[in-house]
Order: sequence, then C-alpha cells, then structure tokens
Amino acid sequence: QLEYSLRPQSLAQYIGQHQVKDNLKIFIEAAKQRQECLDHVLLYGPPGLGKTTLATVIANEMGVQVRMTSGPAIERPGDLAAIVSSLEPGDVLFIDEIHRLPRAIEEVLYPAMEDFCLDIVVGKGPEARSIRLDLPPFTLVGATTRAGALSAPLRDRFGVLLRLEFYDEDALAQIVMRSGQLFDVEMDETAAYEIARRSRGTPRIANRLLKRVRDYAQVIGNGQISLSLAQQALELLQVDPLGLDHIDHKLMLAMLERFRGGPVGLDTIAASIGEERVTIEDVYEPYLLQIGFVQRTPRGRIATALAYEHFGIAPQQS
Ligand code: ADE
Repeated sequence: QLEYSLRPQSLAQYIGQHQVKDNLKIFIEAAKQRQECLDHVLLYGPPGLGKTTLATVIANEMGVQVRMTSGPAIERPGDLAAIVSSLEPGDVLFIDEIHRLPRAIEEVLYPAMEDFCLDIVVGKGPEARSIRLDLPPFTLVGATTRAGALSAPLRDRFGVLLRLEFYDEDALAQIVMRSGQLFDVEMDETAAYEIARRSRGTPRIANRLLKRVRDYAQVIGNGQISLSLAQQALELLQVDPLGLDHIDHKLMLAMLERFRGGPVGLDTIAASIGEERVTIEDVYEPYLLQIGFVQRTPRGRIATALAYEHFGIAPQQS
C-alpha cells in the first residue's frame, strides 16, 4: 500500500524529468481541450526511472483508467483482443517491455493503434475467416529500455516519443525526502543527499536504499536518519560512494584487469562475468556510460582513466 503511494499520482507531484513533463503537459491539455484521447506514447530509457509511474500519471491527468500488461504476457492475438475490447473510451493501455511483444501480436496491434479496430482470424482451414472488431478509442503507452529494440513499423505508430533521463542529485534527494515524509521518518537533508548520490540516478534504487537505511535507523539507531547513520548503513549494504554495486564492480574489474581496459566486445564481457548480454546493455552499462567509466567504440567497449582512478588500478600499457 505504502509502496504504491510512494509513486506520484500527478504531474505536479512528479519530480524531475522536466523535458518529459513540459511536453506531456501540453499534449495532455491539447487532447483534453479537443475532447480526444491522447495520441499513443512511447516511453524509453533505463529501468527504474519511472516509466510505469508516468503511465499512471498520464491516465490520472486525462481522467481515465489504466490497464497494465507487458509484452511477454501477450502470447496470442486473443490475449490482446481480450484486453483492448474491455477498455472504456479514452482509457490508457500500458504495455511494459513492449519490445518483447511477439511479432504476430505486433501485426494485430497496428490496426488497433491506427484505426481502433482488430482483425481476428476465427476458425481453421477452409472455414477460417477474418472478423473485424471495432474498439473504443484508447491511448497506448508503451515502455521499453531501448527505442532501438522496437521494430520500425511499431515505433512509427507512436505519436509521442519521450526519453527518460537519469535523475540528477537534487531531484533524487527531493524524491528521497518526499518518500521519507511518507514513511514518517525523520531525516537530515545531508542524509537524503548521501542516499541520492549512491542511487545511480535512479528513483527505484533511491527508494530501496532509503528503506534499508530506515531499517538500520530503527534497529541500530534511534529511528532518525542522520548523515553518519546513512553512511554506516550504506557501507554495510556494500553500496560504494558512486552507488556501484557488486555486479558493476565485477564488470568494471573484468574490463580493467582481465581485458586491460579494452576494447572488448559486450558478449565477451558478458561471458566472462556470467551475466546476460541484454542485462549488461540495458541495466548496467547505461549508468557506467553516463558517469564516463565506459565508452563505446566501433571496436568494442573501453574503460576510461576515470574508471582506473575510481578502482585504484594503474592503467596497463600494452
Ligand atoms: N518516486 C519515484 N519516482 C518519483 C518521481 N519522479 N517523483 C516523485 N516521486 C517519485
């Protein structure tokens, strides 16, 4: 319940992502003035930045209901038909991980997005025929970690494309303080900033760290979150001052030591640390690129001088 209320419900409550909010405000206002539903929206960016939250906010601002599903959950055309035919006019349909939608479903989705209708094949063999089903107008909000992972025809059917960026320290600290208030926990502003700095630009991580620090304050401390208590708790959680975790460390150390700083291919890195390529590409690498520890080159990934410095390793000459 509290988990749910940590999520902002309106654009006014939504902290950060100013570019995204400023654009959305206008598109939402315009659609409402015309009494139309909002054009389809594609949200893309690294995990944990608030794509699902934003889908709920869009529905709230439009004054409609939101139905939530995900690409892998829709296996057959009938699954999609069941969902879209149960929508009320103007509703938001949120499809998370939309790049994982099966190709056959994409084909069914195109006319649903463009003309609000479904062509469904019923029966088999000579009996088979196609029936057309009219749908209520709706807004599809799709979310993906990479817009590039989407097929071009699907991407082209979204009228609004919005990229979520990593949050800066001030925005994250505001989010941590807001969550602290909702938890009814006393916290120094400096402690909120400490948590913010170690959250990899990601509200989901900030809120998770805040919960663990709150546990620590409750059991080890007096319930209040001071700077030093936050630092102790984060130390115990093995979150380093930049927020890099165990897997970031494994990845960077492999690049710096085993592969002498690169260039090294993503598949080679993935195999050497036993992680999936897509996990590295979608979850770990974006932040390492953002803080300038890794660079992409045509010959592979390279580690930067900044990374060598952070890990206290001398660059090797090769
Ligand atoms: N909680 C998680 N993300 C948030 C955001 N962008 N604004 C306010 N609270 C949040």
